[in-house]
Amino acid sequence: MVTKNDTLNEAQEQKDHEDLLAADARHVLHPWADLGSLGEENALVVQHGKGVRVRDSQGKAYLDAIGGMWCMTVGYGCDELVDAIADQARQMAYYTPFGDVSSEPAVKLAEMLAELSPGDLNRVHFTTCGSTAIDSAVRIAHYYFACQGKPEKRNILTRRNAYHGSTYLAASLCGKAADRTLFQYESDFIHHLSSPGYDAEIAEISAEERLDQLLQEFEETIEEIGAENIACFVAEPILASGGVLTPPPGYQKATWEICRKNDILYVSDEVVTGFGRLGHFFASEVRFGILPDMIITAKGITSGYQPLGAVLISDRITDAIGAAAPENKPVFSNGYTYSGHPVACAAAVKNIEIMQRDDICGHVREVGPYFMERLKELRSFPIVYAVRGDHLMACVECWTGEEKGPNAANMALAQRVDAYCQEAGLIVRPYENLCILSPPLIVEKSDIDQIVTILEGALDRAQRDLKAGKLD
Ligand SMILES: Cc1ncc(COP(=O)(O)O)c(C=O)c1O
Repeated sequence: MVTKNDTLNEAQEQKDHEDLLAADARHVLHPWADLGSLGEENALVVQHGKGVRVRDSQGKAYLDAIGGMWCMTVGYGCDELVDAIADQARQMAYYTPFGDVSSEPAVKLAEMLAELSPGDLNRVHFTTCGSTAIDSAVRIAHYYFACQGKPEKRNILTRRNAYHGSTYLAASLCGKAADRTLFQYESDFIHHLSSPGYDAEIAEISAEERLDQLLQEFEETIEEIGAENIACFVAEPILASGGVLTPPPGYQKATWEICRKNDILYVSDEVVTGFGRLGHFFASEVRFGILPDMIITAKGITSGYQPLGAVLISDRITDAIGAAAPENKPVFSNGYTYSGHPVACAAAVKNIEIMQRDDICGHVREVGPYFMERLKELRSFPIVYAVRGDHLMACVECWTGEEKGPNAANMALAQRVDAYCQEAGLIVRPYENLCILSPPLIVEKSDIDQIVTILEGALDRAQRDLKAGKLD
């Protein structure tokens, strides 16, 4: 029986919720906020999570098909991880990481990362997130060449459609046209090559031809700038936020070899592809046959439970930097108050232990192909232009059937699909004309079936809206 008190409590909860939304709209500037409707939109307030599912402040449940933001590995509400965080916070919440001061979790984590990563990446520089790790890697590349008496070796190669973060330097390395707005970007020493995405199912040329084109451009750009002026190439093995773009087979290895030949450092941005999303802790060597000079990691390193980033650095680089440190100023002046934060590192250590114990990478290798196979069924919808991805990173690209790409009509269509998914209890990430998917790594085949069923319903509804001219 519903009592008067229940009704009053419900009314109070509703009011609290409305106050929260109003305060959010009034005071918070969200990342990638739509400034055209600043303060007008109601935010989705996610308050609970368990496994692959989350619940919003109104009690509505969703299957989270984006893993928070590519970061969820072991699932929401993992008590072991929460306990590790609480234990560390109780024992020692924070102390400076500067100079010779360290913390046990940071040391333990660095040791684990050195063990898990390929080649001689035995030195870890902790940061606070992916952006600051990218920033630090570029600074390290500059330092490395400067201390060898080659300060002019400072140019950086990157690609269109790349996403590397949001500090001034990381944002300047990004190559997504839609993100270039009224902000300032460094252009003096940053060079954007073509987007390397290749999809054999829709491509007009063969993978070999596309690879040749990309490598030719790569070599010509090096020749133009001069290898003696280039510090590093920064590259995601698969471009994630740019639209889940996979280069043609052999691209990563061939560009890495060209870099090696020209003494250009290869920085592999594994913020998304690392920590299991492609079925391995790091994909660079196992999947793409490369031994980068630096690997960038963040997100999945703590399963999203704590903010943390890291640059894994080759011994070759740190040895050279150490040997060449100037006598009067031997200081490596890069780092953050929260570099290697003990609570974040304790979360990462526990996350790795759980991932290893439960063989989460093996699980991804098993369910990943099923995920892609089931998603590919969606190609039968006329409004689906392409479905692409690799293991647990994927996207569905929509179009009205007229012109492909992120034009206004295609974007409106994809946004409609996303909205219908959300209505039906599935969170996918809307980006331009894409629905991006990156579920928590513990996702089961039955969850995948549910994701596909909801997507089918949403595509069907959006397709009918398009036909009926009801997209505006
Ligand atoms: C490939 C890649 N690199 C770097 C970053 C930046 O990481 P963060 O947002 O933690 O700064 C991201 C974030 O999405 C990313 O996808």
